Amino acid sequence: MGIDLTKFFNGVYQGKKVLVTGDTGFKGSWLALWLTEMGAQVYGYALPPKTEQDNFLRCGLDKRIVHQDGDIRDRDALEAFFARVHPDMAFHLAAQPIVLESYDNPHYTFETNMMGTVNFFEAVRRTPSVRAVVNVTSDKCYQNNEWVWGYREHDPMGGHDPYSASKGCSELITRSYMQSFFSAADGCAVASARAGNVIGGGDWAPYRIVPDFFRAMKENKKLIIRNPDAVRPWQHVLEPLGGYLLLASKLWTDGAAYSGGWNFGPVETNNATVRELIEAILEITGSGGFEVPPSEMAPHEARLLKLDISKANTQLKWKPVLNFKETVEYTVNGYLDEQNSSDTHYENRVNQIQSYLESAVKLNL
Ligand SMILES: NC(=O)c1ccc[n+]([C@@H]2O[C@H](COP(=O)([O-])OP(=O)(O)OC[C@H]3O[C@@H](n4cnc5c(N)ncnc54)[C@H](O)[C@@H]3O)[C@@H](O)[C@H]2O)c1
Repeated sequence: MGIDLTKFFNGVYQGKKVLVTGDTGFKGSWLALWLTEMGAQVYGYALPPKTEQDNFLRCGLDKRIVHQDGDIRDRDALEAFFARVHPDMAFHLAAQPIVLESYDNPHYTFETNMMGTVNFFEAVRRTPSVRAVVNVTSDKCYQNNEWVWGYREHDPMGGHDPYSASKGCSELITRSYMQSFFSAADGCAVASARAGNVIGGGDWAPYRIVPDFFRAMKENKKLIIRNPDAVRPWQHVLEPLGGYLLLASKLWTDGAAYSGGWNFGPVETNNATVRELIEAILEITGSGGFEVPPSEMAPHEARLLKLDISKANTQLKWKPVLNFKETVEYTVNGYLDEQNSSDTHYENRVNQIQSYLESAVKLNL
């Protein structure tokens, strides 16, 4: 028996109808699972899971929530789903989230991430039951000057590669809908949430370092690392999700006071190079390996990008809970659990949420 999850976030999620786009993905499936454990009725809208090993299927979410396969670019289908569900709250996570894929397919990336956001807000606008909305974008939404300071919420939007630019656009779209259609009087409070690279069990997306490592390990191969010295702000998936849930609960109880953009980045001590991350993973797994090929021309990818989290810290009382070592431990345990053939994946994810929240309580969060 762990702690009672329904009590967290002022208990606002219990009995609420919560619509999550992108529920079949890495972050969306964890969010759907966490919401379910808090007593929410979860309704998901996304493309179908890509493989049998996706977190959504491994955790049996297809049987625990109401999911509809659908394309975020299909405005009519999305609006019909909102009209059928009448959700109280909505989280938007459906997106093409991979930078390298955005170089291969910029048109699809812009269409999904920009027009998908427009379609999402059109559906919200036409569904009066919705009172709290969080659009999940990215730390890459900022114009990246590669400077040493953290980006703050009012810094200019930008983006060099198509993915980053599409997330900057998603932010501008959010702001436009917020200012044009969702005043406090309309009763729907809207916010956007910006987080960096997240890691954790259940992520099998291509071109991501941790899934790539575990894929290689399964095949007894060495991981090829393109940019070993790139510094990234590593964060466990539960950290930003806790931020999104806290933010939406405040939007629900206090409305427009919490509208706007919010950074949910890690503390600076969680910044580490790709090489340091993989070495920390190897220390736990004891198997797998990596090699660095001679330098080659790689597409431009932003270097260091830090988020200033003072706003979330002071106004939401949110801050990261796990240090770098714990982040890696949670992540590796999450992946190693998946190699276990027993049917306890859902319970193991819930255990991680419980132990994460226990640590948060100890920090008075
Ligand atoms: N994972 C990270 O490190 C990270 C970092 C910053 C921001 N984000 C953002 O978080 C969100 C979720 O990312 P993720 O890592 O879970 O990605 P993911 O690829 O695991 O999941 C993406 C989800 O979006 C859905 N989707 C994609 N294209 C769609 C379309 N055309 N129509 C309907 N659904 C579609 C997929 O079906 C899936 O459910 C994205 O908005 C992403 O940009 C992720």
